[in-house]
Amino acid sequence: MLALLALPLVAAQLVPQQTYTPPGAAAGNTPSTGTPNAQWSAVLGNALWFYDGQRSGRLDAGAYPNRVAWRQDSAVNDGETVGLDLSGGWYDAGDWIKATYPLGITMWALSWSAMSYGPGFEAANQTAYMDSTLRWGYDWLMKAHPTDDTLYVQCGSSEHDGGNGYWGPDDGLPRNRPCYAVNASYPGTDAWASTAGAFAMGSLAYQGTQWNTSATAWGPVPLANASYAQQLLKHGETLYRVAKENDKASFTDSLKDIGRAYVPSSYGDDLCTAALALAAATNDSTYYAEAYGHYTNYSLTGSGAVWNWDSRIPAAYVMFAELAAARPGLAAGAGLDANLTGWQSEVEGWIERSIAGEGGRTYLTHAGLIFWAGDSDEGSLNPAMAFAALLLRYAPLASSTERATRYRDFAATQIDYLMGKNPMNVPYIVGQHPNSPAAPHVVRGSGLTDQSNLREPPTNKETLYGAVPGGPRPSDLFWSWRDDWVQNEVALDYNANLPALAAYQLITGASDPYYVGVTAGYSIPKGEPCDAALPCENGLSGGAIAGIVIGCLVAIVLAGVAVWLYRRHKRKG
Ligand SMILES: *[C@@H]1O[C@H](CO)[C@@H](O)[C@H](O)[C@H]1NC(C)=O
Repeated sequence: MLALLALPLVAAQLVPQQTYTPPGAAAGNTPSTGTPNAQWSAVLGNALWFYDGQRSGRLDAGAYPNRVAWRQDSAVNDGETVGLDLSGGWYDAGDWIKATYPLGITMWALSWSAMSYGPGFEAANQTAYMDSTLRWGYDWLMKAHPTDDTLYVQCGSSEHDGGNGYWGPDDGLPRNRPCYAVNASYPGTDAWASTAGAFAMGSLAYQGTQWNTSATAWGPVPLANASYAQQLLKHGETLYRVAKENDKASFTDSLKDIGRAYVPSSYGDDLCTAALALAAATNDSTYYAEAYGHYTNYSLTGSGAVWNWDSRIPAAYVMFAELAAARPGLAAGAGLDANLTGWQSEVEGWIERSIAGEGGRTYLTHAGLIFWAGDSDEGSLNPAMAFAALLLRYAPLASSTERATRYRDFAATQIDYLMGKNPMNVPYIVGQHPNSPAAPHVVRGSGLTDQSNLREPPTNKETLYGAVPGGPRPSDLFWSWRDDWVQNEVALDYNANLPALAAYQLITGASDPYYVGVTAGYSIPKGEPCDAALPCENGLSGGAIAGIVIGCLVAIVLAGVAVWLYRRHKRKG
């Protein structure tokens, strides 16, 4: 006993018991034997390895050893133009930009999975890697929030180092990258609130408490660290207060120079989800009352929206339902009814409308991938995987076992599609299977230096294991062409729900992912993809053609109504 007490203090951060190294694409046809399932463990391990591959700054900063041998330090001087150290964090997608707004949903989703699927991460020995992934993101977000109202929303710019500027190895990235901040004079309600929500969720993950959303709730990833949880919470509370008290505006309207890569459509959803997460993290009913206020003031009810980087309404619905189950006292303290039944119908209304394609917001491809019209056209897998993750999260709270089963079954169809049950026989995770996309649109590891010729060779020099690319076209066809960023680009938010999906399979003892039985062999489809990256010769993308078809249909219906009204009028007359 005394000897135990004499042991040195535990390290600040978890250290992996076993180093995880991706098994390689060739292993994708090897059936698993035993428990935990080796293939799902590899999906989870690779999903987190991807984030290491996206690192910016000094790769071995402090307690976070680099696992990606072919990466080098880059952008180590970020922030010097504004007198700050803004190095670190991750590149947002295939280029060199660090972007705070979409990082918000990424951190939200990762933290949410850490709160709920602990045994899955534990089984795959990924707890320490989840810790380092979360800390890599949050440590940078804290740097990006140096004073109450100042939040850096972007480092790098498409003119300067992405876009037409620089496509080459890490160590050649130009210095003096610009960094852009919102503040009280240049407000960014969406960026402030989104980041506040992310911080609050991180605080919940590091509080390490049981998230009792249902009788079948699993435990959190064991990350409990009260001081880190408190640090994150402080940033979250400050940012939310700043978002509430300052002029309301989108950061993209306040900062005209940053380019138009991510233009949020609204900030009501950001305010609502931030207040909800803060309510949970503080147990303070005032936040709950405000969340409910945002929900009513911004008319968030009855939505058919996608859950993605821009749109957090579906996450708000599920979070309201989870709070009704896990923390009913929050509503009571605000003089409101926790109202699980009401939130069940809000969530289930959204799910049922989405699956049924009501209102033309969604449709299923021939092979069954759910598409949100517009949102899925520039990255089809992300909305479908986010939907699957929300279905699996919510199913234990469903109003009937029939619905719970149907939601889990629908999620399984989306996951199977991702894992290779699709007309291309492609498992859409880089480095997972011989048919996996091998030319992801990502400068790092591509081995290329000429941006005007990105199509060849058909395989990147290095493998960015675990990356989920944009995904196939509405036709289910997939062109593995690096220059087609619509289908092939990688992004932090594209991967954000994959850890939850894999951890869930590990917890529930699922059999091998679909790709294990997929025969090796992929070929580029005939014809042209006709998307925003590679429009067809007539100049119309698939989305534009769909728009014209819908426009014509609407015109025909309107003409029909006019004729009917005219005849009715005549009859009456
Ligand atoms: C908790 O996190 C803080 C901040 O990162 C760190 O300094 C501390 O050592 C951690 N404590 C433990 C027990 O891991």
